[in-house]
Amino acid sequence: MSLETNFHTPVRCSVFIALSLDGFIARPDGGLDWLPQPEPGEDYGYSRFIETVDTVLMGRNTFEQVLTFPEYPYADQHVVVLTTRLLALPARLTDKVQCMQGDPAQILARLAEQGARHVYVDGGETIRRFLRAGLIQEMILTRVPVLLGRGIPLFGDLDGEIPLEHVETVVYSHGLVQSHYRVLLKG
Ligand SMILES: NC(=O)c1ccc[n+]([C@@H]2O[C@H](COP(=O)([O-])OP(=O)(O)OC[C@H]3O[C@@H](n4cnc5c(N)ncnc54)[C@H](OP(=O)(O)O)[C@@H]3O)[C@@H](O)[C@H]2O)c1
Repeated sequence: MSLETNFHTPVRCSVFIALSLDGFIARPDGGLDWLPQPEPGEDYGYSRFIETVDTVLMGRNTFEQVLTFPEYPYADQHVVVLTTRLLALPARLTDKVQCMQGDPAQILARLAEQGARHVYVDGGETIRRFLRAGLIQEMILTRVPVLLGRGIPLFGDLDGEIPLEHVETVVYSHGLVQSHYRVLLKG
C-alpha cells in the first residue's frame, strides 16, 4: 500500500532527534543519561535548526521531560503539546504553550491557520503518528554509539514503506553520526 502524503501543506515538518544505534530515543523510564554531554561550543547543528522553527509540536511525554530541564528551551517558539488530557501548565508557560489533540492532518491545518511555517515535531509516538500521516518532510537523526537494548522507540509499524533521500551525514565527536534525510513523496 502506498503512503498517503500531504506535502501540499504550506507547513514544513521536521524531526531533529538523537537515538541509540538500536533505535531508542529514551530508556524505558524516559531517561536520557546515555546522551553524551555536549562539548563546549558544539550543539550538533541544533541552534542553526531551531532558528528556522516557529512552532515546536511535541507529545505530552516529551513535554513532561522538557519541564524537568533547568531552563525552558523554547523561549522563541510557539509550543504545542499534544494530549488527550487536561494539562495543568505551569503559570509561567500559560501564554506560551497551547494544548491540542486529534488527527495529525487536522492539527497541522490548525497550525497553518495560526501562521506556522516550520514545525519541529518531537516525541516518539508523535513522530510516528506524523510519519504515518505523510506529514514529515525531513529528519535529522543523530545516532549515538550505544545499544540500549530496550527503551522508547523512534520508529514502528507503518502502513507502507517511506522512501528517504540521504542529504548529508556529519560525524561529530563521541562518535555521533548525524544524518539528514528528506522524505520522498510517493506518486
Ligand atoms: N533522544 C531525544 O533526542 C529525544 C527527543 C524527544 C523526546 N525524547 C524522549 O522521548 C520520550 C517521549 O516519547 P514518547 O514516544 O513516549 O511520546 P510523546 O510523543 O512525547 O508523547 C506521547 C503522548 O502524546 C500525546 N499524543 C500524541 N499524539 C497525539 C494526538 N494526535 N492527539 C492527542 N494526544 C496525542 C498522548 O498523550 P496523552 O496520554 O496525554 O493523551 C501520548 O501518550 C521522553 O522520554 C523524552 O525524553 C527523546
